[in-house]
Amino acid sequence: MSVSFNLALSLDAALQAAATAAGLEAPFAAEIRGADPRHGDFQANGVLGYAKARKLNPRAVAQQLVAALPAEVTANYEVSIAGPGFINFALRPAGLLAWLQTHVRAEQLAAGAATTRAGESWIVDYSSPNTAKQMHVGHLRSAVIGEAIARLLTYSGAKVTRDNHIGDWGTQFGKLIWAYKRHVDTAALARDPIEEFERLYKLGNSAAEADVAVMDEARAELVQLQAGKPESLDVWRQINEASLRAFQKVYDQLGIRFDLTLGESFYNDKVARIYEELSRLGLAQESLGALVVFHPEHPRFKEQPFMIRKSDGAANYASTDLATILYRTEVLQATGMLYVVDKRQGDHFEQLFITVRKWFTASQRPVPRMEHVDFGTVLGENGKPLKTRDGENIKLKDLLTEASDRAYTLVCEKNPDLPEAERRAIAEIVGTGSVQYADLAQNRSSDYVFAWDRMISLEGNTAAYLLYAVARIHSIFRKLGLTPADPATEVAASGLETPTELALAHKLVKFPEAIQLASGQMRPHFLCLYLYELAGEFSAFYSADKVAVDDVPVRARRLLLCARTLLILENGLQLLGLRTLARM
Ligand code: ARG
Repeated sequence: MSVSFNLALSLDAALQAAATAAGLEAPFAAEIRGADPRHGDFQANGVLGYAKARKLNPRAVAQQLVAALPAEVTANYEVSIAGPGFINFALRPAGLLAWLQTHVRAEQLAAGAATTRAGESWIVDYSSPNTAKQMHVGHLRSAVIGEAIARLLTYSGAKVTRDNHIGDWGTQFGKLIWAYKRHVDTAALARDPIEEFERLYKLGNSAAEADVAVMDEARAELVQLQAGKPESLDVWRQINEASLRAFQKVYDQLGIRFDLTLGESFYNDKVARIYEELSRLGLAQESLGALVVFHPEHPRFKEQPFMIRKSDGAANYASTDLATILYRTEVLQATGMLYVVDKRQGDHFEQLFITVRKWFTASQRPVPRMEHVDFGTVLGENGKPLKTRDGENIKLKDLLTEASDRAYTLVCEKNPDLPEAERRAIAEIVGTGSVQYADLAQNRSSDYVFAWDRMISLEGNTAAYLLYAVARIHSIFRKLGLTPADPATEVAASGLETPTELALAHKLVKFPEAIQLASGQMRPHFLCLYLYELAGEFSAFYSADKVAVDDVPVRARRLLLCARTLLILENGLQLLGLRTLARM
């Protein structure tokens, strides 16, 4: 058991077995936690509660359990009882080495990880920008966090479907089509369609604001589009296609590939059924011409009904989201849905989920798992939402270009001798990775301040620091003319001895816990923090313990530690959506 992927889980199983063997009355929960490193690697906290509920002496229960532990556990762990009845487990050097020797390749790590969410299936709704506009910095978080979560869930064994729920059917199209018909600049359109659509939208918007007659015409355009007038649909289609092409460039750079891109328009012909069902079930009612759902039992929504059809008869965000959930459960057979969306939409999702729970229960459908995976705002250094100097939103594509330009400076300082093209290619990976990582390294629910200097730096919890650690380990092997994790080298490894070897190994075996924490709470920053700490342990080891020594067994075990650090750093960064480098 000592070598199973998730040591905390296997200890849990071992304590269960010990509880049965010792004749403890069921149920007993071991409650394994990561321990304070001074006391060991893991701690079982469950004895206290168990003993208290049964008026037993906790230390005596702990002693019974420890005595009943299988021999393989005591061979790999030093086990001790502390305080009133905590059981501490400290991995022995042999236990550490055994784990490292059974987790040599990415497939072995992945196979272990894939048991934690096996059997689950999730639709991840993320990115989901609105068409006819550029993606701006506000769209960064959903794309980056959504992708990392999709990867983490897949790695943990879940079936994941990535769905880009684009906003391709909003009221913006009335004004846009109005302006397009009157003011389009065909040369500009050919050059950069999105720029031109944005110009037209702004023009239509200010014209409509200045003149009610224009506002009415724009409304009429929207009605014609919604009624399916071919000429309007043509313009609309052109706008969406150009938008998707522009989005795709950003997705390519961020390593994102969607399984589905079912925008709001896809649900157009599916909303009537929602109105009908919800009204028939008595959940929805007319109010001032609109169709609404009340949740009077919910203090926050007492005065604020959930509007599912506007008073002009048009569908809205809510109707589309309800139709989407029906489609996902009926047609895609989904049992779980994640919405990686700004936390300012919290009320919308709460009302949506309450409505679906009532509706599905009343219609005897199984209620899917629905979660709003929320995130905070990207702020400028002035503490306000990040904008350009003239108050415009920062375009995501410009932001990524600037990132790779800034990273280029860093790469040139570090490695002036590499050919120019290679420095550029490295800079693109470091720059993009820095932007992704700075976003992921924060607890997603908080706002964060976007600061270039902190983000593209070789110091601190940054992408550049971690990518550099990876490249450095590659170079250790390159210089020795060896391949990482070569069994012919590693077979000679002797037992771990020095404090820095041991500290690094103790950190390496915690990778499964980091994955479980990040994927369990859908918070990638737990993985970031782990990787950062791992890179720190590696640095300490590398400066204290020379790797290329003559003593073959010592050299072999140190190379093994290098190779495993490399494996876990590379896997971890890839799970976050970053690309890694062999040279930097
Ligand atoms: N298009 C929306 C926006 O830009 C986000 C959509 C999120 N997904 C959803 N199913 N509501 O705010």
